[in-house]
Amino acid sequence: MAKFDISIIGLGYVGLVTGSAFAKKGYSVICADVIEEKVQTLNSGRSPIYEPGLDELVKELVEEGKLSATNFVSKAVADSDITFICVGTPSEPDGSVDLKFITSAAEDVGKALSEKQEYHLVVVKSTVVPLTTEETIIPIIEKHSGKKAGEGFGICMNPEFLREGNAVYDSMTPDRIVIGELDDKSGEMLLKYYEDFDVPKLRTDLRTAEMIKYAANTFLATKITYANEMANICTKLGIDVYEVMKGVGSDARINPEFLNAGCGFGGSCFPKDLQALKFVAESKGYEPLLLNSVLLLNDNQYFKLIEMAESMIDGLQDKRVAVLGLSFKPNTDDVRETRALPLIKGLLEKGAVVVAYDPKGIENFKELVGDRFIKMGYSVTRLIYADDVESALRNADVCIIQSDWDEFKNLGMDQFNLMKKPAVIDGRRTFSDPTKLIECGLKYKGIGWKD
Ligand code: UDX
Repeated sequence: MAKFDISIIGLGYVGLVTGSAFAKKGYSVICADVIEEKVQTLNSGRSPIYEPGLDELVKELVEEGKLSATNFVSKAVADSDITFICVGTPSEPDGSVDLKFITSAAEDVGKALSEKQEYHLVVVKSTVVPLTTEETIIPIIEKHSGKKAGEGFGICMNPEFLREGNAVYDSMTPDRIVIGELDDKSGEMLLKYYEDFDVPKLRTDLRTAEMIKYAANTFLATKITYANEMANICTKLGIDVYEVMKGVGSDARINPEFLNAGCGFGGSCFPKDLQALKFVAESKGYEPLLLNSVLLLNDNQYFKLIEMAESMIDGLQDKRVAVLGLSFKPNTDDVRETRALPLIKGLLEKGAVVVAYDPKGIENFKELVGDRFIKMGYSVTRLIYADDVESALRNADVCIIQSDWDEFKNLGMDQFNLMKKPAVIDGRRTFSDPTKLIECGLKYKGIGWKD
């Protein structure tokens, strides 16, 4: 009998949260990662990534002996019956998926399987474009294991739909579980591991499972972009887009989720996945007009905030702008594709001095920015990072909210009165009822709102 039930390769969001969900269901889980620091952090009972609820869960599971980590993929695979590949699939500059982590994981798994007698199931959880599992991953595992897929080992493709900031909840109670399977034996085995997850399960083939992930993310990104386009039209007509979307979203065929208009989507999935699908479509000779439009509209949406700020305070040259929210959304320190980056770049180009604040994302944002603004000729004194929200607001001419952290939802006139004149442009819809703030003198505007 194997020492562990499950091995996970990759201690990023998907790997760690998937491993924790299975460990919480009672399985013993070993996670493998090449980064020594991540392994040590996990083994000391802490989460190597920031995600609400994850630190407490990891502590509990490590103490119970249900969750541990190692640097050795071969050991993790050898000591388990099933391996989930959860490594990152970043983008190449042309939009295609960089498969270097996937191919190296597949190679390690193949080598480990060459030493193993027992049947082993390999599950691809990383987001990969259709046909990758069949045309890239399986051949690598076959080559290094000396075994044939379906005989010596099984294969499933099991996309992950978790949202950062809600990852723990999403992984314990997903809306559905999609199992792409090479054959019936592989699918049946994976299904057994998900027995205790009382949610709809869809079994299909490998390439369909891969496509479901891309199609779902494209739909959600399109839904947001649709709401943003309606918002831009509503702005011109003096109509509140949020009221419109309440009416639209109450149609059961549409539903109210992902209709919150604002300054656009960011994150580790939507921009990258849409680019990758566009690349695949174009490489097959199809011009994806919808994908192109969604990406283009999203790339431009942040600029609405700059236009509104300019008109609210009569130009931005040498004005002090407080930018609240640097991570791509609340409850995460992840800054990948955050709208804060083009927003701050645009503000600097307009001559503004930016004072930026985020509850968790400042360090990652600084790393993301690197020396790019310096290279563009902006001195360090034009982008300042504040330690707290009050310091960001103090003496600011205008405040722009890029992501709606709870900390910002609780702001009141005591804080806004620290500004030269209280004026806020909201890239989300941070205050559900801003009436009191407006009555107390706050100038408050957002994309697609009635004045
Ligand atoms: C997304 C998908 O939701 C998830 O299923 C997939 O596995 C990974 O990609 P995530 O990137 O974590 O998850 O965040 P999500 O909550 O979907 O938000 C993505 C972006 O869209 C954020 O920038 C958010 O601010 C924006 N958004 C979301 C809107 O602008 N309006 C909305 O109504 C919803």
